[in-house]
Amino acid sequence: MLKKFFGLFSKDIGIDLGTTNVRVYVRGRGLVINEASVVAVNLRNDQIVAIGNNALKMMGKSPNHILIIKPLNHGVISDFEVTEKMLKLIFEKVHRDTFTLVPRPRVVAAIPLDVTEVEKKSLEDVILQAGAREVFLVERPVAAAIGVRLPIQESIGNLIVELGGGLSEAAVISLNGIVSKKSLKMGGELLNKNIIGYVREKFGVLLGDQTAEEIKIKIGSAFNNKNQEIKVKGRDLVKGLPKEILVNEEQVREAIMPSLKTIIEGIHETIEATPPELVSDIYERGIILSGGGAQLRGLDKIIQKKINIPVIVTDDPSTAIIRGTGLILEDFENLKQVFIPSARD
Ligand SMILES: Nc1ncnc2c1ncn2[C@@H]1O[C@H](COP(=O)(O)OP(=O)(O)O)[C@@H](O)[C@H]1O
Ligand SMILES: [Mg+2]
Repeated sequence: MLKKFFGLFSKDIGIDLGTTNVRVYVRGRGLVINEASVVAVNLRNDQIVAIGNNALKMMGKSPNHILIIKPLNHGVISDFEVTEKMLKLIFEKVHRDTFTLVPRPRVVAAIPLDVTEVEKKSLEDVILQAGAREVFLVERPVAAAIGVRLPIQESIGNLIVELGGGLSEAAVISLNGIVSKKSLKMGGELLNKNIIGYVREKFGVLLGDQTAEEIKIKIGSAFNNKNQEIKVKGRDLVKGLPKEILVNEEQVREAIMPSLKTIIEGIHETIEATPPELVSDIYERGIILSGGGAQLRGLDKIIQKKINIPVIVTDDPSTAIIRGTGLILEDFENLKQVFIPSARD
């Protein structure tokens, strides 16, 4: 009775603690937080100066005593203390904006495939210490599949490829479980590094991360050539002074292609490890792409060409995971079968 009462009044929360972005869903309200996974800390007094998009703006521009921290690395917590502080601030904000009788929420959190027990426990601990009453874990591609409403509860092969900033994960899901999978510790952030490396080699110019991101989003593509160009500024490595260069689409594609090939190889391996009946379902239904990285122009086309199976980029791919955690909260009894065991028992 008491439990039912709690269940009714607490605002349960879904969390996607991504490498690049952190998103929060509040039951009954929807997506309430969608911010960069970045924290700015003042080293003089150990205080947090900014989190999220405000902290991201400071990246590469802060004085020595302001440290810009990305507390997640390939979807795994690399800085426990800072992640905890960030989550506490987020929970407080959610709480302030929501009328609740029970302040401590149940949390559904997305977690990468192939995490160690220690990494899993660390995620559970950080969420509990930030104020959650209970934590449930769902693997990122499974959450994404639910978010885009794939029929994962049926005996049908669903292949989803979730492309985040630090992780690229493919999973074939049937009957609420993963049949075959591949998790690569690389993603959109590596594509940016590829562009930076290429420009350094080719132009002798050092670009900032934000500039590489801008190049990728404005003219990046995996297929087709519209011959777009972009003017960007970096630092001339010889003279040490600012220099403007013109980068074209073809060059960007050349820079990122090795990473794209690794992702395609990962999808290939996943399909190879999938029983034939399910492969036939996938062939009919297509490969579904989600995650921010799915927005790279022509990525669907190149995968389709190399793997020979239709590819579909889902609508609003960046929020697939968080919408999935939300749907789990809204239909908890039905979907709780997808949770993976806690590392705290
Ligand atoms: N239009 C785009 N083209 C290519 N990559 C994009 C685009 N928009 C966002 N991204 C990339 O998507 C990644 C972020 O995706 P997201 O799912 O939010 O990350 P995560 O879940 O890992 O935090 C970043 O690496 C970003 O550069
Ligand atoms: Mg994501």
